[in-house]
Amino acid sequence: MLSIHFVDNFAINHSHPKTKTSRARTTPSLETDARLGRVIGVLMRYPTVVISGTKLALEIGTTSPEVWRLVQQLRVIGVGITGHPASGYRLTSVPDLLLPEMIRPQIRGTIFADNIHHYYRAGSTNTIAIDAANLGAPEGSVFVAEQQTAGRGRGSNQWYSAESTGVYCSVILRPALPPSDVLVLSLATGLAVQSAVREIDSRVLPDLKWPNDVLIQGKKFCGILTEMSAEATRVRHIVTGIGINVNQRHFPGDLADTATSLQLATGTEWSRVELCAALLKSLNHEYCNLLENPDARTEILQRFEERSSSARGSHVRVEENGGFEGVTDGLDSRGFLRVRSRQRVHTVFGGTVRLQ
Ligand code: BTN
Repeated sequence: MLSIHFVDNFAINHSHPKTKTSRARTTPSLETDARLGRVIGVLMRYPTVVISGTKLALEIGTTSPEVWRLVQQLRVIGVGITGHPASGYRLTSVPDLLLPEMIRPQIRGTIFADNIHHYYRAGSTNTIAIDAANLGAPEGSVFVAEQQTAGRGRGSNQWYSAESTGVYCSVILRPALPPSDVLVLSLATGLAVQSAVREIDSRVLPDLKWPNDVLIQGKKFCGILTEMSAEATRVRHIVTGIGINVNQRHFPGDLADTATSLQLATGTEWSRVELCAALLKSLNHEYCNLLENPDARTEILQRFEERSSSARGSHVRVEENGGFEGVTDGLDSRGFLRVRSRQRVHTVFGGTVRLQ
């Protein structure tokens, strides 16, 4: 199901620069008009054919003048469409936009295929997903944005979310799991990111840093923010937000020292659509495994340790309880990081862990 809202937020190229804060306050998150994607979907089905405005209108359930208006909107965002109402239309190129019609064909059979919501500009896809979950949106609902004006990270951090360069994606899950298992699910999301990246370019070996960072050559290119609504014994819903730096060529300010993107790390441009689809497939696999396989918990923790160069034997500083230094000593059975200091073995619950 795709919600249809008639909006004009496609015109991101015409926006006036504003500060993050002012835009976050003044720009509402508006879901993309689903008919834009449908026009692309129909034109993609007949790639070599000129399609009349009347046929297009019939296929997407609107009028010919409306089709012309939608075609013009699509051109503004970079979709190559030749023709006009009298001649008919033909698709010549599609930009790397995370539209449902682009992602869905690649993730059929997963829990994420049926409810993909796209935003040209959102505040935070996690916030949108949480609001939707509270209103009863089904498990597997996906919220993707080309740009976030108030992207949120762990703690009170912001997530740098420049236009059409990253994947900014949040999903709603409603697992029949106790809240204590949510950390394992969150760790499994990191594994899913790692597998998705490797599926696309097997030369890249992303490194996991507990709990939710994914790094290449010591720099962060992906962060995961898992937020849940739960009772003491039961999860109501989880929103897992994944931010991946894909085609950024530079980062502002302090981020330049600590952040990287897949393009910077590999020297090639990546398809965000392909990566987002690979991520959702991989996340579907990890999630179903966790729900269905009684040994999955242990196996995920084991795999996380294997695929994280810093989970064991790394010198770290932990910003928790006044801060302390020590050496990482693997994960405990719930997924928390153990750190051995001179005095004792600490269990890290949520503080920032800095590699020394
Ligand atoms: C972190 O490393 O601190 C977590 C970053 C999570 C960023 C993603 S981008 C999509 C989703 N929407 C948000 O506002 N945050 C998450």
